[in-house]
Amino acid sequence: MSELVDPTTTPAWEQLTELAAALEPDLRGWFAEDADRADRFSFTAADLFVDLSKNLVDDEILAALVALGEQVGLEARRDAMYAGERINVTENRSVLHTALRRPKGDSLVVDGVDVVAQVHEVLEKIYAFAHRVRSGEWKGVTGQPIRTVVNIGIGGSDLGPVMVYEALKPYVQPGLECRFVSNIDPTDVFEKTRGLDPATTLFIVASKTFTTLETLTNARMARDWMLAALREAGAIDDSDAQATDAIAHHFVAVSTALDKVAAFGIDPENAFGFWDWVGGRYSVDSAVGTSLAVALGPDNFADFLAGFHAIDTHFAEAPLERNVPALMGLLNVWYVNFLKASSHAVLPYAQYLHRFAAYLQQLTMESNGKGVRLDGSEVVTETGEIFWGEPGTNGQHAFYQLIHQGTQLIPADFIAVATPAHPITDGDADVHELFLSNFFAQTKALAFGKTADEVRAEGTREEIVPARVFTGNRPTTSIMAPALTPSVVGQLIALYEHITFTEGTVWGINSFDQWGVELGKQLALQIAPAVAGDAEALAAQDASTRALVGYYLAHRDRG
Ligand code: F6P
Repeated sequence: MSELVDPTTTPAWEQLTELAAALEPDLRGWFAEDADRADRFSFTAADLFVDLSKNLVDDEILAALVALGEQVGLEARRDAMYAGERINVTENRSVLHTALRRPKGDSLVVDGVDVVAQVHEVLEKIYAFAHRVRSGEWKGVTGQPIRTVVNIGIGGSDLGPVMVYEALKPYVQPGLECRFVSNIDPTDVFEKTRGLDPATTLFIVASKTFTTLETLTNARMARDWMLAALREAGAIDDSDAQATDAIAHHFVAVSTALDKVAAFGIDPENAFGFWDWVGGRYSVDSAVGTSLAVALGPDNFADFLAGFHAIDTHFAEAPLERNVPALMGLLNVWYVNFLKASSHAVLPYAQYLHRFAAYLQQLTMESNGKGVRLDGSEVVTETGEIFWGEPGTNGQHAFYQLIHQGTQLIPADFIAVATPAHPITDGDADVHELFLSNFFAQTKALAFGKTADEVRAEGTREEIVPARVFTGNRPTTSIMAPALTPSVVGQLIALYEHITFTEGTVWGINSFDQWGVELGKQLALQIAPAVAGDAEALAAQDASTRALVGYYLAHRDRG
């Protein structure tokens, strides 16, 4: 495994520190003086056109960032990941989500096993299942075809499937609907089963570990709901045999723990496996995407995987100075560590991408929200910025004020596609063109701002001139693609996976574990008896928790 480098000891870090201290951002001037800037700082990766020119960098800074990538061993660590080395050291695991999207016929042998062959074996099984559901050959217990697929999962077993389902709505087979249950708040299962006919509903229980409290609780509630409703409708009787039969027709599972699937009562024949080398937040392209394979169809799912692979190939092969995920990751390091940004906005101008930021929050923040390095020592730099966002233009009317005129530096990625899914007009106006005009306008306003003289020239009263000045020099990256196809969605996800990887590599952290989520889970189990009224368990809590639980106990109305 490549040696762990302290990034702050590299010559590139020293140079970047000096460059940051001397930086006088002037995007107006830089563009005015350099006719080639937009061209030179724009790149392509597969179908993505990525314009980095409105970032607060010049050639020297970009070269120093590339040098930083070289000096921390970014390429060697990337190669180690792709080859299946156990770079997830705290869990002693390989990190092989890139193997999930390698084409059939490729081969990657890790610990004596061809993982690509394994991946395609499972894909075939998923595709056959998807075909059966889509064609109506898979029938519910009353002999009716499936109309609704409900995915039960949380975190990586939910956010990816729901985000992609929303992103690719136009590709969903008419007559089929997917719903997604994640929260242990019982209202989630209530709302998502509301109005459903159990006879035409199929549940996919998706959990890498098959131990997650939320998912197993929701799966049991769904099972109870389904059996009760089928019994009430007279479709099955009270016998265990009929219940088992109904579960076999209406429940399938996705997991790395197929033994636990069987213990839940789901036939392992109806389970789709994956492997411990797929992180939860990197798993939408594994069997965790089964709901998508059903909704979108095997061909579209295969295109989705091909999109990931195209970016994987780019990340593996493009030299760092033209390597889009590497450059974007290094730019993020520039903002976080040298210009002191603490958050990063992702603003898709595509309503179908309305869950993209939520998806990225797990990908980026569960990956890089770390305070210790790969060798257990404390980190030497800030890590893990906050990712957030909403689709444009909604965000424009909500929080863009702070990005334009607030005191914090918030780098933002703008994402748009050239061809809309629905080319609808408003009279003679093509509304997608109006929409994209906003996309172009926002990055322009953020970059170039509006000077006091320009404000005055509009006849503004002097005392309100300052409030109407836009400083500009607010950095953005524009990402454009031809259309929101399955492949492009795969490309966007892979792009951010590798951006995340690049940042984690510079910081020397393990982007593939998530120990920080464990303590709260343990405490919830400890506190549960107190919440259920056990006085001794309540007395054992700290004063604040006691008071809060006490409030709950006093105010719970049981009807
Ligand atoms: O608690 C965090 C986490 O482990 C995520 O990393 C994961 O995506 C999620 O829970 C769900 O886990 P599972 O798929 O094992 O149910």
